[in-house]
Amino acid sequence: MLFGVLSAMFTPWTLAASALTLLVYYAWTKTRLKHEGSNIPPFPAPAKPFLGHSLLLKGDILDNLAWMRKKTGDIYSLNLFGQHWIVVNGYENLKEVLVKHADKTQDRPLSLASKVLKEDNHGLITSTGRNFKEQRMITNTILRDFGMGKNIMAEKVALEVQTFIETLESYEEKPTDVHQIVSAAVCNIICSILVGHRSRRKCLRKSKRMLEPPARPPSQTCPKLRYLTAVIRETQRLAGVSPLGTRAVSQSFELQGYLIPEGSQLFINLNSALHDQSSWENPLQFRPERFLDANGDVLKPGEFLPFGLGRHNCVGEALARTELDLFLASMFQRFRFEPENPTQLPPLKGVLTINLSPQTFKVKFVGRNK
Ligand code: HEM
Repeated sequence: MLFGVLSAMFTPWTLAASALTLLVYYAWTKTRLKHEGSNIPPFPAPAKPFLGHSLLLKGDILDNLAWMRKKTGDIYSLNLFGQHWIVVNGYENLKEVLVKHADKTQDRPLSLASKVLKEDNHGLITSTGRNFKEQRMITNTILRDFGMGKNIMAEKVALEVQTFIETLESYEEKPTDVHQIVSAAVCNIICSILVGHRSRRKCLRKSKRMLEPPARPPSQTCPKLRYLTAVIRETQRLAGVSPLGTRAVSQSFELQGYLIPEGSQLFINLNSALHDQSSWENPLQFRPERFLDANGDVLKPGEFLPFGLGRHNCVGEALARTELDLFLASMFQRFRFEPENPTQLPPLKGVLTINLSPQTFKVKFVGRNK
């Protein structure tokens, strides 16, 4: 029976057709790297037929990219299924690509699905050329109208912080995975900015709370909490939660003597700047003091770019920073954080999807007054 099925499948014709398809595909993948042999950035290893260097990314992509940087240099090429990708590492190179050559690297690569569905050139993330500039301007105007970067936004965040702290208190020091509650709090803030309120229940609570004195320091005092700001910056630097961006090259240019050819695509490795030995002493050590000068003032070196660089930098930076300041100030003021198991701290290695998220862990929120 099995033999019958196999011999029906593997006729000389089906074998010849499969061989021809493979050959055509191979030829196609080879022709896609049309600049191979010219002065493009080097490859870390010979490319495998069909797959190119895709197997080199298997496993921990960020560790693999860092390994290839060590082996090949700050700028290197990868053939990923016949497409030419160039990985850009290091602050000066990122600045050159994203700022100096912004006109040639503004667009993001389009997935096959968005091309087929004609979902290209819509919205902020995938739009290109003049359309992108318009989308970006409209987004920034709308966000400003909604209070982005203004006191009203800090007030909305502060209201959510109160509910958040109450929820942490309600756990009564039981070890808890706070992933869901943090997501809910952040979503509530976006909703309250967009539609003016978080939910009906929240409105009732909010009006009651408006009558109560604030239980945490008002947001205006936050800029004075310099050490906290340094702790937040150092956490953002070390965690690098938004490590990689992508760009499409619309016009050839030169970078460090290499040709960056039109039609190639770029991996923008933001974490390479956040963790670079040449910019940060012992870059993998957690040391908030590196963000404080001799007078205790907070520093913001150019290499600190957790919100990106250039035309696609984060439009939500002001909101994200307000959230980090207000949530963490209140949390540190109210609680000590203890691991579920005193001998085992949560793992520091993140899980990479679009961004890096922490692995699941539980923490005890122990009241400071105890
Ligand atoms: C700590 C929190 C956040 C971090 C670390 C972060 C990081 C980043 C980074 C690195 C980029 C640039 C990506 C690139 O160059 O391709 C980016 C873009 C973006 N972020 Fe954020 N972000 C955060 C929070 C937010 C929030 C709260 C919002 C929404 C209000 C937001 C909305 C966006 C949008 C729409 C873009 C795309 C901008 C564009 O393509 O022009 N982000 N973010």
